[in-house]
Amino acid sequence: MAKKVQFVETVLRDANQSLIATRLPFAKFEPMLSTIDKAGYYAAEVWGGATFDVCLRYLNEDPWERLRKIRAGMPNTKLQMLLRGQNVLGYSHYPDDFVKLFVKKSVENGIDVIRIFDALNDVNNLKVAMEATVNAGAIASGTISYTTSPVHTHANYVKMVKELKEMGASTICIKDMAGIMGPQEAYDLVSAIKDAVDLPIDLHTHSTTGLAFMTYLKAVEAGVDIIDTAISPMSGGTSQPATETLAYALRQLGYQVDLDDTATKALADYFKGVRDEFIKDGTLMPKSMATDTQCLTYQIPGGMLSNLLSQLKQMNALDKFDEALLETPKVRADLGYPPLVTPTSQMVGVQAVTNVLTGERYKKVSKEVKAYCRGEYGRTPAPINEEVKAMILGDEKPIEGRYADTLKPIVEPTRQKLGDLAKCDEDVLSYIAFPNLAEKFLEERKAKEENVATYSIVEC
Ligand code: CO
Repeated sequence: MAKKVQFVETVLRDANQSLIATRLPFAKFEPMLSTIDKAGYYAAEVWGGATFDVCLRYLNEDPWERLRKIRAGMPNTKLQMLLRGQNVLGYSHYPDDFVKLFVKKSVENGIDVIRIFDALNDVNNLKVAMEATVNAGAIASGTISYTTSPVHTHANYVKMVKELKEMGASTICIKDMAGIMGPQEAYDLVSAIKDAVDLPIDLHTHSTTGLAFMTYLKAVEAGVDIIDTAISPMSGGTSQPATETLAYALRQLGYQVDLDDTATKALADYFKGVRDEFIKDGTLMPKSMATDTQCLTYQIPGGMLSNLLSQLKQMNALDKFDEALLETPKVRADLGYPPLVTPTSQMVGVQAVTNVLTGERYKKVSKEVKAYCRGEYGRTPAPINEEVKAMILGDEKPIEGRYADTLKPIVEPTRQKLGDLAKCDEDVLSYIAFPNLAEKFLEERKAKEENVATYSIVEC
Protein backbone atom coordinates (compact mmCIF):
# COMPACT_ATOMS: atom_id res chain seq x y z
CA MET A 1 0.00 0.00 0.00
CA ALA A 2 1.17 3.48 -0.78
CA LYS A 3 2.65 5.30 2.15
CA LYS A 4 0.47 8.20 3.24
CA VAL A 5 1.88 11.70 3.71
CA GLN A 6 -0.20 14.23 5.61
CA PHE A 7 -0.12 18.02 5.46
CA VAL A 8 -0.35 20.86 7.96
CA GLU A 9 -1.57 24.06 6.31
CA THR A 10 0.29 27.06 7.72
CA VAL A 11 -1.35 29.92 5.84
CA LEU A 12 -3.13 31.33 8.88
CA ARG A 13 -0.14 31.22 11.24
CA ASP A 14 3.41 30.64 10.01
CA ALA A 15 2.97 31.81 6.41
CA ASN A 16 1.02 34.78 7.75
CA GLN A 17 3.76 35.47 10.31
CA SER A 18 6.72 34.90 8.00
CA LEU A 19 5.51 36.87 5.00
CA ILE A 20 3.27 39.63 6.32
CA ALA A 21 4.28 39.99 9.97
CA THR A 22 1.05 38.22 11.07
CA ARG A 23 -1.13 41.09 9.84
CA LEU A 24 -3.93 38.92 8.41
CA PRO A 25 -7.14 40.01 10.14
CA PHE A 26 -9.85 37.46 10.87
CA ALA A 27 -12.28 39.09 8.44
CA LYS A 28 -9.83 38.57 5.59
CA PHE A 29 -9.64 34.79 5.92
CA GLU A 30 -13.09 34.09 7.35
CA PRO A 31 -14.61 33.31 3.91
CA MET A 32 -12.07 30.49 3.45
CA LEU A 33 -12.53 28.64 6.75
CA SER A 34 -15.00 26.14 5.37
CA THR A 35 -12.77 25.53 2.35
CA ILE A 36 -9.73 24.81 4.53
CA ASP A 37 -11.99 22.58 6.59
CA LYS A 38 -12.93 20.56 3.51
CA ALA A 39 -9.40 20.25 2.09
CA GLY A 40 -8.34 17.22 4.11
CA TYR A 41 -5.39 18.56 6.05
CA TYR A 42 -3.94 16.68 9.01
CA ALA A 43 -4.24 20.02 10.82
CA ALA A 44 -4.37 23.75 10.21
CA GLU A 45 -1.88 25.83 12.14
CA VAL A 46 -3.93 28.84 13.14
CA TRP A 47 -2.86 30.22 16.49
CA GLY A 48 0.04 30.85 18.86
CA GLY A 49 3.43 32.17 17.82
CA ALA A 50 3.03 35.86 17.13
CA THR A 51 -0.71 35.75 16.35
CA PHE A 52 -1.74 36.52 19.92
CA ASP A 53 0.53 39.53 20.28
CA VAL A 54 -0.38 40.95 16.87
CA CYS A 55 -4.13 40.50 17.43
CA LEU A 56 -3.94 42.73 20.48
CA ARG A 57 -1.25 45.10 19.25
CA TYR A 58 -2.29 45.81 15.68
CA LEU A 59 -5.54 44.13 14.70
CA ASN A 60 -7.73 45.08 17.63
CA GLU A 61 -8.93 41.51 17.87
CA ASP A 62 -9.38 39.41 20.96
CA PRO A 63 -7.11 36.45 20.18
CA TRP A 64 -9.38 34.08 22.12
CA GLU A 65 -12.43 35.19 20.22
CA ARG A 66 -10.51 34.72 16.97
CA LEU A 67 -9.71 31.16 18.01
CA ARG A 68 -13.35 30.41 18.86
CA LYS A 69 -14.49 31.80 15.53
CA ILE A 70 -11.92 29.69 13.68
CA ARG A 71 -13.09 26.65 15.64
CA ALA A 72 -16.68 27.34 14.67
CA GLY A 73 -15.75 27.81 11.02
CA MET A 74 -13.59 24.68 10.90
CA PRO A 75 -15.34 22.02 12.93
CA ASN A 76 -13.71 19.05 11.19
CA THR A 77 -10.04 19.98 11.04
CA LYS A 78 -7.58 19.76 13.89
CA LEU A 79 -6.48 23.22 14.95
CA GLN A 80 -2.83 23.57 15.81
CA MET A 81 -0.97 26.21 17.78
CA LEU A 82 2.68 26.95 18.43
CA LEU A 83 3.75 27.37 22.05
CA ARG A 84 7.17 28.42 23.33
CA GLY A 85 7.26 26.02 26.26
CA GLN A 86 7.67 27.85 29.56
CA ASN A 87 7.69 31.14 27.59
CA VAL A 88 4.16 30.33 26.31
CA LEU A 89 3.74 33.12 23.72
CA GLY A 90 6.12 35.59 25.32
CA TYR A 91 9.82 36.10 25.55
CA SER A 92 10.69 35.10 29.11
CA HIS A 93 9.66 32.36 31.49
CA TYR A 94 6.29 32.33 33.26
CA PRO A 95 5.26 30.62 36.47
CA ASP A 96 3.70 27.18 36.11
CA ASP A 97 0.17 28.23 37.07
CA PHE A 98 0.05 30.52 34.05
CA VAL A 99 1.46 27.89 31.68
CA LYS A 100 -1.08 25.32 32.88
CA LEU A 101 -4.09 27.60 32.66
CA PHE A 102 -3.03 28.96 29.28
CA VAL A 103 -2.79 25.47 27.83
CA LYS A 104 -6.09 24.41 29.38
CA LYS A 105 -7.92 27.45 28.03
CA SER A 106 -6.33 27.09 24.58
CA VAL A 107 -7.76 23.60 24.36
CA GLU A 108 -11.14 24.66 25.77
CA ASN A 109 -11.36 27.38 23.14
CA GLY A 110 -10.69 24.97 20.30
CA ILE A 111 -7.04 23.90 19.97
CA ASP A 112 -6.38 20.20 19.22
CA VAL A 113 -2.62 20.09 18.66
CA ILE A 114 -0.05 22.04 20.64
CA ARG A 115 3.40 22.16 19.16
CA ILE A 116 5.66 22.82 22.10
CA PHE A 117 9.26 23.93 21.69
CA ASP A 118 12.02 25.48 23.72
CA ALA A 119 14.63 27.82 22.32
CA LEU A 120 17.38 25.88 24.10
CA ASN A 121 15.86 22.40 23.65
CA ASP A 122 15.87 22.15 27.44
CA VAL A 123 13.20 19.55 28.17
CA ASN A 124 12.71 20.98 31.67
CA ASN A 125 11.13 23.96 29.95
CA LEU A 126 8.69 21.73 28.07
CA LYS A 127 7.54 19.48 30.86
CA VAL A 128 4.75 21.59 32.37
CA ALA A 129 3.24 22.57 29.02
CA MET A 130 3.44 18.98 27.75
CA GLU A 131 1.74 17.62 30.85
CA ALA A 132 -0.97 20.28 30.73
CA THR A 133 -1.63 19.49 27.07
CA VAL A 134 -2.00 15.79 27.75
CA ASN A 135 -4.24 16.52 30.76
CA ALA A 136 -6.46 18.74 28.62
CA GLY A 137 -6.92 15.88 26.16
CA ALA A 138 -5.06 17.51 23.28
CA ILE A 139 -2.21 16.23 21.13
CA ALA A 140 1.16 17.24 22.51
CA SER A 141 3.61 17.60 19.67
CA GLY A 142 7.04 17.48 21.32
CA THR A 143 9.35 19.61 19.27
CA ILE A 144 13.05 19.83 18.68
CA SER A 145 14.40 23.18 17.54
CA TYR A 146 16.72 22.15 14.77
CA THR A 147 20.11 23.75 14.48
CA THR A 148 23.63 22.77 13.63
CA SER A 149 26.60 23.02 15.98
CA PRO A 150 29.29 20.74 17.35
CA VAL A 151 26.93 19.71 20.18
CA HIS A 152 23.76 19.23 18.12
CA THR A 153 24.42 15.62 17.18
CA HIS A 154 21.83 13.08 16.08
CA ALA A 155 22.51 11.19 19.29
CA ASN A 156 21.52 14.25 21.32
CA TYR A 157 18.39 14.82 19.25
CA VAL A 158 17.38 11.19 19.63
CA LYS A 159 17.92 11.41 23.39
CA MET A 160 15.66 14.44 23.48
CA VAL A 161 12.98 12.75 21.40
CA LYS A 162 12.90 9.82 23.84
CA GLU A 163 12.45 12.27 26.71
CA LEU A 164 9.61 13.96 24.84
CA LYS A 165 7.91 10.61 24.41
CA GLU A 166 8.27 9.96 28.14
CA MET A 167 6.56 13.30 28.76
CA GLY A 168 3.55 12.24 26.75
CA ALA A 169 4.27 13.48 23.24
CA SER A 170 1.87 11.94 20.68
CA THR A 171 3.88 13.27 17.75
CA ILE A 172 7.39 14.60 17.27
CA CYS A 173 8.07 17.76 15.34
CA ILE A 174 11.44 18.70 13.90
CA LYS A 175 11.32 22.44 13.65
CA ASP A 176 13.79 23.94 11.20
CA MET A 177 12.90 27.58 11.69
CA ALA A 178 15.78 28.86 9.56
CA GLY A 179 15.27 26.57 6.57
CA ILE A 180 18.86 25.37 6.81
CA MET A 181 18.19 21.64 6.92
CA GLY A 182 19.42 19.94 3.77
CA PRO A 183 17.95 16.79 2.19
CA GLN A 184 20.64 14.44 3.49
CA GLU A 185 20.37 15.83 7.02
CA ALA A 186 16.60 15.42 6.85
CA TYR A 187 16.94 11.84 5.66
CA ASP A 188 19.44 10.94 8.35
CA LEU A 189 17.70 12.69 11.22
CA VAL A 190 14.23 11.40 10.37
CA SER A 191 15.67 7.88 10.01
CA ALA A 192 17.44 8.15 13.36
CA ILE A 193 14.26 9.35 15.11
CA LYS A 194 12.13 6.71 13.39
CA ASP A 195 14.52 4.05 14.66
CA ALA A 196 14.30 5.40 18.20
CA VAL A 197 10.56 5.99 18.72
CA ASP A 198 7.34 4.77 17.12
CA LEU A 199 5.62 8.16 16.97
CA PRO A 200 4.43 10.08 13.89
CA ILE A 201 7.04 12.64 12.85
CA ASP A 202 6.26 16.07 11.46
CA LEU A 203 8.93 18.07 9.67
CA HIS A 204 8.62 21.83 9.68
CA THR A 205 10.87 23.94 7.51
CA HIS A 206 10.91 27.21 5.58
CA SER A 207 11.70 27.88 1.92
CA THR A 208 14.15 30.65 2.80
CA THR A 209 17.22 28.93 1.34
CA GLY A 210 15.38 27.02 -1.37
CA LEU A 211 16.15 23.63 0.15
CA ALA A 212 12.66 22.90 1.46
CA PHE A 213 11.18 20.83 -1.41
CA MET A 214 14.22 18.57 -1.54
CA THR A 215 14.40 18.39 2.22
CA TYR A 216 10.74 17.32 2.46
CA LEU A 217 11.19 14.73 -0.28
CA LYS A 218 14.12 13.06 1.45
CA ALA A 219 12.31 13.27 4.78
CA VAL A 220 9.33 11.53 3.19
CA GLU A 221 11.63 8.84 1.83
CA ALA A 222 12.93 8.36 5.37
CA GLY A 223 9.36 7.90 6.59
CA VAL A 224 8.25 11.31 7.79
CA ASP A 225 4.47 11.29 8.33
CA ILE A 226 3.50 14.95 8.24
CA ILE A 227 4.91 17.98 6.43
CA ASP A 228 4.10 21.66 6.91
CA THR A 229 3.18 23.59 3.77
CA ALA A 230 1.46 26.82 2.76
CA ILE A 231 -1.11 27.33 0.04
CA SER A 232 0.84 28.47 -3.06
CA PRO A 233 0.19 32.24 -3.13
CA MET A 234 1.39 32.48 0.47
CA SER A 235 4.29 30.04 0.05
CA GLY A 236 7.98 30.28 -0.74
CA GLY A 237 10.74 32.48 0.60
CA THR A 238 10.51 32.90 4.35
CA SER A 239 7.23 30.92 4.35
CA GLN A 240 6.73 27.18 3.79
CA PRO A 241 6.89 25.47 0.37
CA ALA A 242 3.64 25.23 -1.58
CA THR A 243 0.98 22.75 -0.56
CA GLU A 244 -0.25 21.95 -4.07
CA THR A 245 3.26 21.45 -5.47
CA LEU A 246 4.14 18.90 -2.81
CA ALA A 247 0.81 17.14 -3.20
CA TYR A 248 1.43 16.88 -6.95
CA ALA A 249 5.03 15.69 -6.66
CA LEU A 250 4.39 13.17 -3.90
CA ARG A 251 1.43 11.65 -5.74
CA GLN A 252 3.55 11.33 -8.86
CA LEU A 253 6.07 9.42 -6.77
CA GLY A 254 3.38 7.04 -5.59
CA TYR A 255 2.59 8.42 -2.14
CA GLN A 256 -0.95 8.74 -0.88
CA VAL A 257 -2.02 12.37 -0.40
CA ASP A 258 -5.58 12.86 0.76
CA LEU A 259 -5.96 16.52 -0.14
CA ASP A 260 -8.98 17.73 -2.07
CA ASP A 261 -7.62 19.51 -5.16
CA THR A 262 -10.81 21.47 -5.73
CA ALA A 263 -10.55 22.89 -2.24
CA THR A 264 -6.84 23.73 -2.50
CA LYS A 265 -7.47 25.40 -5.86
CA ALA A 266 -10.23 27.53 -4.36
CA LEU A 267 -7.91 28.46 -1.51
CA ALA A 268 -5.12 29.39 -3.91
CA ASP A 269 -7.46 31.52 -6.01
CA TYR A 270 -8.66 33.38 -2.95
CA PHE A 271 -5.27 33.93 -1.35
CA LYS A 272 -3.81 35.30 -4.58
CA GLY A 273 -6.05 38.30 -4.06
CA VAL A 274 -5.05 38.57 -0.41
CA ARG A 275 -1.35 38.37 -1.29
CA ASP A 276 -1.71 41.06 -3.95
CA GLU A 277 -3.37 43.42 -1.49
CA PHE A 278 -0.49 42.99 0.96
CA ILE A 279 2.05 43.54 -1.81
CA LYS A 280 0.24 46.69 -2.83
CA ASP A 281 0.20 48.20 0.66
CA GLY A 282 3.87 47.30 1.20
CA THR A 283 3.32 44.77 4.00
CA LEU A 284 4.53 41.92 1.83
CA MET A 285 7.97 42.70 0.50
CA PRO A 286 9.09 40.86 -2.63
CA LYS A 287 12.35 39.87 -0.99
CA SER A 288 10.47 37.83 1.63
CA MET A 289 9.30 35.57 -1.16
CA ALA A 290 12.68 35.18 -2.82
CA THR A 291 15.34 32.56 -2.20
CA ASP A 292 18.18 33.70 0.00
CA THR A 293 21.11 31.37 0.44
CA GLN A 294 22.97 33.63 2.86
CA CYS A 295 21.57 31.60 5.73
CA LEU A 296 23.50 28.60 4.46
CA THR A 297 26.73 30.54 4.43
CA TYR A 298 26.22 32.11 7.84
CA GLN A 299 24.00 29.46 9.42
CA ILE A 300 21.74 32.15 10.81
CA PRO A 301 18.03 32.57 10.11
CA GLY A 302 16.82 35.04 7.50
CA GLY A 303 14.85 37.06 10.05
CA MET A 304 18.03 37.59 12.01
CA LEU A 305 19.87 38.83 8.98
CA SER A 306 17.28 41.48 8.30
CA ASN A 307 17.27 42.47 11.99
CA LEU A 308 21.04 42.87 11.93
CA LEU A 309 20.73 45.06 8.87
CA SER A 310 18.03 47.27 10.33
CA GLN A 311 19.87 47.67 13.66
CA LEU A 312 23.04 48.73 11.90
CA LYS A 313 21.09 51.07 9.67
CA GLN A 314 19.53 52.75 12.71
CA MET A 315 22.99 53.23 14.18
CA ASN A 316 24.30 54.54 10.88
CA ALA A 317 26.79 51.70 10.84
CA LEU A 318 25.94 49.66 7.80
CA ASP A 319 29.64 49.41 7.01
CA LYS A 320 29.95 47.08 10.03
CA PHE A 321 27.62 44.47 8.52
CA ASP A 322 30.36 42.00 7.56
CA GLU A 323 31.96 42.32 10.96
CA ALA A 324 28.61 41.77 12.70
CA LEU A 325 28.03 38.69 10.56
CA LEU A 326 31.36 37.23 11.59
CA GLU A 327 30.73 38.09 15.24
CA THR A 328 27.33 36.36 15.35
CA PRO A 329 28.57 32.73 15.29
CA LYS A 330 31.26 33.66 17.84
CA VAL A 331 28.68 35.02 20.27
CA ARG A 332 26.57 31.95 19.69
CA ALA A 333 29.53 29.69 20.50
CA ASP A 334 30.33 31.75 23.63
CA LEU A 335 26.74 31.33 24.80
CA GLY A 336 26.82 27.55 24.42
CA TYR A 337 25.34 27.20 20.91
CA PRO A 338 21.69 28.09 21.49
CA PRO A 339 19.46 27.32 18.49
CA LEU A 340 18.70 30.65 16.85
CA VAL A 341 14.98 31.00 17.42
CA THR A 342 12.86 33.45 19.42
CA PRO A 343 14.08 34.71 21.87
CA THR A 344 17.72 33.53 21.63
CA SER A 345 18.08 34.74 18.03
CA GLN A 346 17.35 38.31 19.18
CA MET A 347 19.75 38.05 22.11
CA VAL A 348 22.63 36.71 20.03
CA GLY A 349 22.01 39.18 17.19
CA VAL A 350 21.83 42.24 19.41
CA GLN A 351 24.94 41.15 21.33
CA ALA A 352 26.92 40.62 18.15
CA VAL A 353 26.02 44.09 16.90
CA THR A 354 26.82 45.61 20.31
CA ASN A 355 30.19 43.86 20.46
CA VAL A 356 31.10 45.21 17.06
CA LEU A 357 29.85 48.74 17.67
CA THR A 358 31.44 49.20 21.10
CA GLY A 359 34.66 47.70 19.82
CA GLU A 360 34.99 45.70 23.03
CA ARG A 361 33.30 42.33 23.37
CA TYR A 362 30.68 42.06 26.15
CA LYS A 363 31.45 45.54 27.48
CA LYS A 364 27.73 46.20 27.15
CA VAL A 365 25.29 43.35 27.70
CA SER A 366 21.48 43.35 27.50
CA LYS A 367 19.45 42.34 30.53
CA GLU A 368 18.24 39.33 28.54
CA VAL A 369 21.75 38.04 27.92
CA LYS A 370 22.53 38.57 31.60
CA ALA A 371 19.44 36.59 32.55
CA TYR A 372 20.45 33.92 30.06
CA CYS A 373 23.86 33.62 31.72
CA ARG A 374 22.18 33.37 35.12
CA GLY A 375 20.30 30.35 33.79
CA GLU A 376 16.88 31.99 33.53
CA TYR A 377 16.25 30.51 30.10
CA GLY A 378 17.30 27.01 31.05
CA ARG A 379 20.20 24.70 30.41
CA THR A 380 22.31 25.73 27.44
CA PRO A 381 23.21 23.08 24.83
CA ALA A 382 26.92 23.47 25.66
CA PRO A 383 28.38 25.27 28.69
CA ILE A 384 28.70 29.03 28.35
CA ASN A 385 32.29 30.18 27.82
CA GLU A 386 33.58 30.58 31.41
CA GLU A 387 35.50 33.76 30.73
CA VAL A 388 32.52 35.41 29.08
CA LYS A 389 30.23 34.26 31.84
CA ALA A 390 32.53 35.69 34.52
CA MET A 391 32.70 38.96 32.63
CA ILE A 392 28.92 39.23 32.34
CA LEU A 393 27.89 37.98 35.77
CA GLY A 394 30.72 39.29 37.93
CA ASP A 395 29.99 38.07 41.44
CA GLU A 396 26.41 37.06 40.69
CA LYS A 397 25.71 33.39 41.09
CA PRO A 398 23.81 31.53 38.36
CA ILE A 399 20.62 29.84 39.54
CA GLU A 400 20.51 26.10 39.94
CA GLY A 401 17.66 23.96 38.68
CA ARG A 402 14.60 25.17 36.79
CA TYR A 403 14.09 28.91 36.75
CA ALA A 404 10.28 28.65 36.80
CA ASP A 405 10.54 26.96 40.21
CA THR A 406 11.69 30.30 41.59
CA LEU A 407 8.63 32.16 40.26
CA LYS A 408 5.54 32.82 42.36
CA PRO A 409 2.06 31.99 41.08
CA ILE A 410 0.66 34.85 39.04
CA VAL A 411 -2.89 33.95 37.95
CA GLU A 412 -4.80 34.55 41.18
CA PRO A 413 -3.08 37.83 42.09
CA THR A 414 -3.70 39.12 38.56
CA ARG A 415 -7.35 38.08 38.70
CA GLN A 416 -7.72 40.06 41.94
CA LYS A 417 -5.92 43.04 40.50
CA LEU A 418 -8.03 43.22 37.33
CA GLY A 419 -11.36 42.93 39.11
CA ASP A 420 -14.28 43.39 36.75
CA LEU A 421 -12.07 44.52 33.88
CA ALA A 422 -11.47 40.81 33.28
CA LYS A 423 -14.64 38.93 32.47
CA CYS A 424 -13.08 35.49 32.28
CA ASP A 425 -9.85 33.55 32.68
CA GLU A 426 -8.98 34.29 29.06
CA ASP A 427 -8.84 38.01 29.83
CA VAL A 428 -6.58 37.34 32.82
CA LEU A 429 -4.28 35.25 30.61
CA SER A 430 -4.12 37.94 27.93
CA TYR A 431 -3.21 40.47 30.59
CA ILE A 432 -0.42 38.34 32.05
CA ALA A 433 0.96 37.66 28.57
CA PHE A 434 0.85 41.26 27.35
CA PRO A 435 -0.15 43.58 30.21
CA ASN A 436 -0.06 46.91 28.40
CA LEU A 437 -1.71 45.71 25.22
CA ALA A 438 -4.36 43.70 27.02
CA GLU A 439 -5.18 46.48 29.46
CA LYS A 440 -5.77 48.89 26.62
CA PHE A 441 -7.86 46.28 24.82
CA LEU A 442 -9.95 45.48 27.91
CA GLU A 443 -10.47 49.16 28.75
CA GLU A 444 -11.63 49.88 25.21
CA ARG A 445 -13.95 46.91 25.23
CA LYS A 446 -15.41 48.05 28.50
CA ALA A 447 -15.98 51.57 27.21
CA LYS A 448 -17.60 50.23 24.06
CA GLU A 449 -19.93 47.97 26.01
CA GLU A 450 -20.97 50.75 28.34
CA ASN A 451 -21.87 52.77 25.29
CA VAL A 452 -23.79 50.07 23.53
CA ALA A 453 -25.87 48.51 26.26
CA THR A 454 -25.54 47.79 29.91
CA TYR A 455 -27.14 44.38 29.70
CA SER A 456 -25.14 42.85 26.82
CA ILE A 457 -23.69 39.49 27.58
CA VAL A 458 -20.05 38.92 26.76
CA GLU A 459 -19.29 35.37 26.05
CA CYS A 460 -15.83 34.13 26.93
CO1 CO B 1 8.20 28.16 11.25
